[in-house]
Amino acid sequence: MLDHGAAPPAGDSDPRRPSSGGLGTRLMRRKPVERLVAEGGQGEGGTLRRSMGMWQLTMISIGATLGTGIFVVLGEAVPKAGPAVVISFVIAGITALFSALSYAELAGTIPVSGSSYSYAYATLGELVAWICGWCLILEYGVSVAAVAVGWGQYLNEFLAGTIGHTIPGVLSQPPGHGGIFNLPALLVVLLAMVFLLGGARESARANTIMVAVKIVALLLFCGVALQGVKSGNYKDFMPMGMAGVSAAGATLFFSYIGFDAASTAGEEAKNPQRDLPRAIMLSLVIVTTLYCLVAAVAVGALPWKKFAGSEAALAGILKDVTGQDVWAVLLAAGAVVAIASVVLTVLYGQTRILFAMSRDGLVPKAFSKVHAKSGAPRVNTVIVSLFCGVLAAAVPLGQLADATSIGTLFAFALVNVAVIVLRRTRPDMKRSFRTPLSPLFPAIGFLLCVYMMGSLGTVTWVVFGIWMAVGLVVYFGYGMRRSRLATAEK
Ligand code: ALA
Repeated sequence: MLDHGAAPPAGDSDPRRPSSGGLGTRLMRRKPVERLVAEGGQGEGGTLRRSMGMWQLTMISIGATLGTGIFVVLGEAVPKAGPAVVISFVIAGITALFSALSYAELAGTIPVSGSSYSYAYATLGELVAWICGWCLILEYGVSVAAVAVGWGQYLNEFLAGTIGHTIPGVLSQPPGHGGIFNLPALLVVLLAMVFLLGGARESARANTIMVAVKIVALLLFCGVALQGVKSGNYKDFMPMGMAGVSAAGATLFFSYIGFDAASTAGEEAKNPQRDLPRAIMLSLVIVTTLYCLVAAVAVGALPWKKFAGSEAALAGILKDVTGQDVWAVLLAAGAVVAIASVVLTVLYGQTRILFAMSRDGLVPKAFSKVHAKSGAPRVNTVIVSLFCGVLAAAVPLGQLADATSIGTLFAFALVNVAVIVLRRTRPDMKRSFRTPLSPLFPAIGFLLCVYMMGSLGTVTWVVFGIWMAVGLVVYFGYGMRRSRLATAEK
C-alpha cells in the first residue's frame, strides 16, 4: 500500500477532508488522494481485476498512440513543412514530453483509472475535474471516432490491393462527403467493443499482438522505402520556413495523443506506482523514435510536393519505390491492424475514465457497473461504443481530429498545473517518479499546450466553446448535486 504521508503542510486547508459550505466551496471541493486510491477498482456490483504488468501497460500506451497520425496524418503534414516534417515530429514530441513527465508523476502518485480527471479532482477541485473529464471525452471518445475513420481509408487501400475492389463511397464516407455513412468506421468500433466486453486481460493480450504487428509494419516500411531514398529529396528542406514546420507540428500533435492511455489502467495494473510512470515514458520514447525514422525515410523516398492529397501516404510510397503492389498491400494490412489497436485501447481508456467519474457520482451509476464474470464494465462499454461508432460513421476525420487535439491539450495543460499544485499542497506524499526541475518543466508543459491550442482554427475553438457550455449545463444540472462528495456532506 502506498504511504501517502501523514499531515498536509501547515497553513494549507486539508485537502483530505471533503469541503462543505457555499457554492464556491462546493465547486472547489477536492477528493482526498487517499480516498481516490482506497476506492481503486471498486465498481457497482464488482471490482476491476489487476492483471497488467509494465509490458502490457506500455503496449496500451503505444497501442493508443501509434496509428492514424503516422499512417494518414503524415500525408497532410508534409505539404505544410516539406522534408522538415521530421523537425515537426520532434517539436510535437517535445510538447508531449513535458506533459508526459507530469503524467508520469501523477500516475505514480495517484494510480487510479480516471487519469487527468482524477488528478484534477485531487488538486484543483470538482468543477475543474469535471471540465477535465468532459475534455477527456474529446481526447478519447471523439478520437476513437477520428481514428476509426482513418482505419476505413487503409481498409480500402488493402481491399484495392487484394481483391481489386473498394467499399463504395456511399458506404465509406460521411454525409456531406459523398456518402450516407461510414460503415467500416462503425464496424471497427463494434469489433473493439467485442474485445473489451471479454475483459481487460483479453483486450490487453490482443492489443500486444496488434502493437507488434504495427511496429513490424513500420520497420518494414523503413527497410523497403530506404532503397528509394534520394539525397536530392532533402535539398529543399524547409520550403515553408519555420512557420510551416510549426504548423505541421500542431497537426502532428494528434499522432502523440494516447501516450497517457496507460494512466487509465491504474486500477487494473499489478504494480501501478512502479509501472505506470515507466510505461508512459517508455512508450513516448519508442513512438518518437519510430515517427522520426518513418518520416525521414518517407520524405527521402518521395518528393515532398507529391504528398498532397494522398490518403494512404505510406502505402503509396512503397508502391512508387518498388513498382509492385505487394509491399503496399502488406503495409496496408499492417495499418489496418495498427489503427484497430488504437481504436481498442482508446475506447478502453474512455470506458475507464467514465467508470471513475461514475464512481464519484458525476455521471450515472450504469458506467461503473462491473460484470461479475469478465470483470469488465460492460454497460459502460456498450454505451461508449455506440456513441463513438455513430460519431465515426457520420463525421469526417479532419473535424474530429482537431476537436480531439484541443480537448487533449486542455487536459494536458491541467495535468501540468496539477503537478505544481500537488507538490505545494502535499509535498509529503510519496512519489514513485518526480518530474525534473518542477515547477519549471510543468510550467513549460503548460505553456506549450496553451501555445498549441492557440494555433488551432476558429471553428475548432467554437466547437470547443459549445462543448464546454454543454458540459457545464450537465454538471450544474446533474453532477454537482449527485457528486458523492456532495452527498457525503449532507
Ligand atoms: N495518436 C493516435 C493516432 O495517431 C490518436 O492514431
